[in-house]
Amino acid sequence: MSTNRPARVVLETIGNTPCIELQNVVPGDCARVFLKLEGLNPTGSYKDRMARAVIEEAERRGDLKPGMTVVEATGGSTGSSLAFVCAIKGYDFTVVSSNAFAVEKLKTMAAYGATVDIVPSSGGKITPELIPAMRSKAKEISLMDGYYYADQFCNPDVLIGYEGLGRELLEQIPEGIDAFCGAVGGAGMVMGVSRILKSHYADCRVTVLEPASAPMITKGYGGPHSVEGIGIGFIPPLLDKRLYDDARAVDEGEGRAISRRLAQEEGILAGASTGLNVVAAIQLAKELGPGNIVVTVACDSGLKYLQGDLFTKK
Ligand SMILES: Cc1ncc(COP(=O)(O)O)c(C=O)c1O
Repeated sequence: MSTNRPARVVLETIGNTPCIELQNVVPGDCARVFLKLEGLNPTGSYKDRMARAVIEEAERRGDLKPGMTVVEATGGSTGSSLAFVCAIKGYDFTVVSSNAFAVEKLKTMAAYGATVDIVPSSGGKITPELIPAMRSKAKEISLMDGYYYADQFCNPDVLIGYEGLGRELLEQIPEGIDAFCGAVGGAGMVMGVSRILKSHYADCRVTVLEPASAPMITKGYGGPHSVEGIGIGFIPPLLDKRLYDDARAVDEGEGRAISRRLAQEEGILAGASTGLNVVAAIQLAKELGPGNIVVTVACDSGLKYLQGDLFTKK
């Protein structure tokens, strides 16, 4: 919250997250690296911003009315956020997810009252076929009467949700922003933030990231990986060439290693996609050099991954 007054409704606690400068994991003789702590949103990820926008824009247009059920295919971050917003607003929510994703997320969606429908994965991996299979199931459900398909991968309302994140960065870093990077799933976060940053700083370099083992944007083919929320097996329809300058594939092992360093050396407990973001931000900081500012995002809270091996595997 931007003020210390009590929030009128829980929805108003979304956003206005802190932005900090990394102190220990960035080598000397580099640009400064800032990290926006989005794990401090109510369900622990930046997806709360887009869930609120998706639901409220649909309500405003009259596409979503009281008594309807929202349906979405999601690994669980978007699902947790939609489940949270639907609980507050009184909509039923059906989510199509998979056992490839953190059990914490599946349980969170159920805790907010969602109906969780599981599509089995191949060996617990996020394969190129998995998300399309989940989406076709969600689409099929949405064709029934009384359903609203949130359709995070194609719905432009998603971008509206992330513009606030961009505006907060402009305020929090008045020195200016030379580069911004972020790993993409549906690409909503990077595209929404870029719309704001590029309209303010025309030369701000925006780099989209993906796992090196699933280089769909950089090389044109997918592959299995374990970084939840990104590397979805197809080019995200919301990815707009006018809103980014380059794409970079980041090694998942390096990302996981830096997630552990973030916890132990910076006190920031975040997930594996944040690790990829920070690896790339440090690469950019080395390339741009002192006097520049690179910004990225801690997408979510590491509390979502404590049952897995992110913080224990060497
Ligand atoms: C943990 C995590 N990181 C990154 C992303 C990617 O965000 P976007 O879909 O806006 O590209 C997601 C999306 O689900 C996510 O859950």
